[in-house]
Amino acid sequence: MPKAPKSIFLCQQCGYQSPKWLGRCPDCGQWNSLVETQPGGQITTSRKAVSTPPQPIVSVSSRPASRLKSGIGEFDRTLGGGLVPGSMVLVGGEPGIGKSTLILQALDRYARQGLKVLYVTGEESLEQVKLRADRLSISSETLFVMAGTSVEEILQRAQQVDPKIVAVDSIQTMQTEAVGSVPGSIGQVREGASLFMGYAKGTGTSVFLVGHVTKEGAIAGPKILEHMVDTVLYFEGDAAYLYRILRAVKNRYGSTNEIGVFEMTEQGLREVLNPSSAFLQDRSEAVSGSVVVPYMEGTRPILVEIQALVGPSPFGVPRRTAVGVDPNRISLLVAVLGKRMGIEMGDQDIFVNVAGGLKLQEPACDLGIIAALMSSYLNKAVDQAMMLFGEVGLGGEVRRASHPRLRIKEAEKLGFSKCVLSKSNLGDSKGVAGIKLLGIDTILDLPQLLFE
Ligand code: TYD
Ligand code: MG
Repeated sequence: MPKAPKSIFLCQQCGYQSPKWLGRCPDCGQWNSLVETQPGGQITTSRKAVSTPPQPIVSVSSRPASRLKSGIGEFDRTLGGGLVPGSMVLVGGEPGIGKSTLILQALDRYARQGLKVLYVTGEESLEQVKLRADRLSISSETLFVMAGTSVEEILQRAQQVDPKIVAVDSIQTMQTEAVGSVPGSIGQVREGASLFMGYAKGTGTSVFLVGHVTKEGAIAGPKILEHMVDTVLYFEGDAAYLYRILRAVKNRYGSTNEIGVFEMTEQGLREVLNPSSAFLQDRSEAVSGSVVVPYMEGTRPILVEIQALVGPSPFGVPRRTAVGVDPNRISLLVAVLGKRMGIEMGDQDIFVNVAGGLKLQEPACDLGIIAALMSSYLNKAVDQAMMLFGEVGLGGEVRRASHPRLRIKEAEKLGFSKCVLSKSNLGDSKGVAGIKLLGIDTILDLPQLLFE
């Protein structure tokens, strides 16, 4: 009797294969990601390998690619100055964050320049797309839309229309006949993306792939997709807030330090040209516990307000709540304040919040957090015209931060007149007039500067 083909187990995150089921993928460490698959459904790569003869690097010409600019400055900058023809861009983000809106708005702007563009939806009906387009006041003649989930059919239709840019929303809904597994599975995602890649490179059409991010923050099959595409952009932000940040995490044609800041409005996404003033616009008047820090997003400084609220705990177990900053960092800084300055907050409830829904992951914000905690604890407001930055060590010493000049310049632009920073940063900060620099070695020097 012929043996039935043995099934294999395939990790939906990274593509690892195993002959038996495992609770945790030994390759990528993801739990419960192995799914039984028939060997027929194995992953093939339909793209043909191309090779060139070896040649000296000096003889390779590097034609600067002419980039397609959408005219949405924040979007173009994040892409590294525009979209490179024939490139494939993955746009990842949580459901509901605004990926479809962003892509449709960008396509419209390309279409308004007379470029033929195609938006493919696998998630919504054309009526739904039209409703959104009306809301965004989109009416370009050269913006084509189609609904479909079959990769082969989409590619065939795309070749008839011959657009300059194709957007596929989303890659997880796409299905190809080349593999037998269900849509959204690793095999389908990989093979589908590979077919679109072949199309992009073969025709010089740029392709946007929209990818959903799982609760854990990874695009399904992330490693595979991120390796394949030229550029990976993440669209993030707190759905409860209006601000959205588009971040380049990989870019074969540009820097990954770029971000774009947007605001979700009734009429779609709007660029935020001056994020600092946007994040500070609702700043409260001289209340205790509020300070402003310059936060670096890549190479871009953004001023944000950190608020702290410290008060006696009515219960035995004091509460520690941090929004937008790492709670462990708060515990550390509270311990430093206790040990080095004698400000004991062991019996106090502590709440720290970053206004606007930003997440600060930079040690340079330490000094600001310390100042906010101190200000709230002592119930004294910090000078409104002051901002601070610097990393705080366990000994209470204040350490240097990166890009001091960029931070100070941004503060100066917004009318701040004093800046507290590490003494070792003073040397790199020369040449910024109009702002008084106060260098300190340890947090012991802080109170006399904050509250005169
Ligand atoms: P959407 O682009 O559909 O998100 P995604 O494709 O990432 O899942 O947009 C999601 C949210 O944005 C939706 O809840 C409604 C909101 N929205 C606005 O606030 N204004 C608008 O003009 C549009 C089109 C959407
Ligand atoms: Mg969508």
